[in-house]
Amino acid sequence: MAKEFKRYLVTSALPYANGPVHIGHLAGVYVPSDIYVRYLRLRGRDVISICGSDEHGVAITIKARKEGVTPQQIIDRYHNLIKTSFERFGISFDIYSRTSSPVHAQTASDFFRKLYSEGKFIEKTSLQYYDEEAQQFLADRYIVGTCPHCGNERAYGDQCEQCGSTLSPDELINPHSALSGSPLVKRETKHWYLPLDQYEGFLRHWILDGHKEWRPNVYGQCKSWLDLGLQPRAVSRDLDWGIPVPVEGAEGKVLYVWFDAPIGYISATKELTPDWERYWKDPETKMVHFIGKDNIVFHCIVFPSMLKAHGDYILPENVPANEFLNLEGEKISTSRNWAVWLHEYLDEFPGKEDVLRYVLCANAPESKDNDFTWKDFQARNNNELVAVLGNFVNRALVLTQKYYEGVVPPCGALTDYDRETIAELQRVKSVLEQDLENFRFREALKDAMNVARIGNKYLADSEPWKVIKTDPERVKTILNIALQITANLSIVIEPFMPFSAEKLRRMLQVDSFDWERIGSMDLLAAGHTIGKPELLFEKIEDDVIQKQLDKLAATKAANKAAEASQNIENQKDEISFDDFQKMDIRVSTILEAEKVAKTKKLLKLTVDTGIDKRVIVSGIAEYFTPEELVGQQVLVLVNLAPRTLKGIESRGMILMGENADGRLVLLKPAAAVFNGSIVG
Ligand code: 2FM
Ligand code: ZN
Repeated sequence: MAKEFKRYLVTSALPYANGPVHIGHLAGVYVPSDIYVRYLRLRGRDVISICGSDEHGVAITIKARKEGVTPQQIIDRYHNLIKTSFERFGISFDIYSRTSSPVHAQTASDFFRKLYSEGKFIEKTSLQYYDEEAQQFLADRYIVGTCPHCGNERAYGDQCEQCGSTLSPDELINPHSALSGSPLVKRETKHWYLPLDQYEGFLRHWILDGHKEWRPNVYGQCKSWLDLGLQPRAVSRDLDWGIPVPVEGAEGKVLYVWFDAPIGYISATKELTPDWERYWKDPETKMVHFIGKDNIVFHCIVFPSMLKAHGDYILPENVPANEFLNLEGEKISTSRNWAVWLHEYLDEFPGKEDVLRYVLCANAPESKDNDFTWKDFQARNNNELVAVLGNFVNRALVLTQKYYEGVVPPCGALTDYDRETIAELQRVKSVLEQDLENFRFREALKDAMNVARIGNKYLADSEPWKVIKTDPERVKTILNIALQITANLSIVIEPFMPFSAEKLRRMLQVDSFDWERIGSMDLLAAGHTIGKPELLFEKIEDDVIQKQLDKLAATKAANKAAEASQNIENQKDEISFDDFQKMDIRVSTILEAEKVAKTKKLLKLTVDTGIDKRVIVSGIAEYFTPEELVGQQVLVLVNLAPRTLKGIESRGMILMGENADGRLVLLKPAAAVFNGSIVG
């Protein structure tokens, strides 16, 4: 038996206020959390839904610097845009706060001070990169250099955006400051660390033994973090944007954004209700964090360790993180404008908020990354919302209008088929509850839509439009049952499509029903007058979809043009013939290729350079399978100094070009030549 809780505290990841929100956010976090809280409210549970903007962190300062404005201007702009987008989509937070609020600064500082005074942190001085010209320490994002995996000269100190590798500044070739361009020096600086290694035993027991029911992707990610062993994590940064570290000797230092952001859930609850402690401290509260997969470590490892260190707080019961949603086969990217922005959708598809909610839930990336395509959006709208749900409701209401002037007819004697249909409808409730309680929202949506399918089948099989000619009394029963099914629909679709549920209730001229009444066949009394039937959903035509596809094509073209001009800007300084002669490039043949374990990008290649047989590690696994590489002739820079990647010594570099889609292609001789043939 699952434990019964007295109340629910549902949090949704605080989005960074450095850009608008897009369909990936909605699908991954906010639609699922809203379905869950709406369901709990319908069941009469005590639930609060918490969210707000995450307004600290280095990304915001970078954006501000790029635009020549202050970080405050950035967060004010996006906080309001994000908040309104959520409201317009019917995401029903009880509070949407922000981490720049004074209550939050106080709460986060108090939290830090308590851990500090109880000796829960380690104080450590280390060498960090410093820009002498800009006179400041540099966050990893402020350090640029050449990616050791793909040669991108504008890779960041934490990540290469060209090949996607996670990096540390020490791995970059020729690292320098993105602020002033000057080379880096290292300086000593003091920071406070949460010794996560000390919480490993607690985490192993709590997650690995105690929460085997968590989604496999979440559980698996936690297990691999724990198996790798945890290290102390710095909870402060040298930055001038954030909450100042509230202890002496910490001038110029702020709390790390991932220390303060989750405390934002607590601060927002404080702002919402004076009763906040009952939600955060009473073990009879069920806390659930809705997040995307990139946030798993912070919500399952770091924040719980912080809560445990503090001691007063409960821990999450579940963290149903989603995988990622792609758009038309490509990763959603804010910087490349590859996204469907919510505020734009809302303006371009007025009244169709539920269509997007529906499509994103039906296609939610619950267990693997998924793709959003406009064709699928159109198909789901036309073939499911219009043809199944809308069609059933419309037929039931229009027939009632036609035969009985909109008055609900009485239900007479039931046939066996009527009874079977009712029994089928009555089975929906517990299946739907099971799916919702266990965060299987895609399945739950199918359960809800099943009610419309049951109704459609019932009408199609019962054929009231024919029976009316031979047995008009029987039609009263058929339509009574069909109308009771529509009233049931208004309950089951509410968590998923609240606007349509409301419209349906308006058409039926009823107030909302209790969740417990799902399956009832007396939701509408005989004699009750329903309203004028309207269409719940309308067909989306090809030209509307084409317009969206054209918009994405324009984005792609703009990105290409920007890259081309970047390529012109990126022209390197002139070199002498002697410099060129220093490079020893040879035609070589790939003899063996295999994936490097525990990496997504790296392949280990054995090549015959004509001089020797050697190993080269190359970050190209996303573009080539090992099988297709074996036997290929390629060009290899053979006198590049050796480097060790993932413990494998790599000697040389395979030369590559990039095609129009940004995919890497091999550079090779036009006809086979002997290995070792000199290029130049
Ligand atoms: O990944 C993100 O968008 C973070 N801003 C999420 C923070 S969630 C919480 F901890 F605040
Ligand atoms: Zn790279």
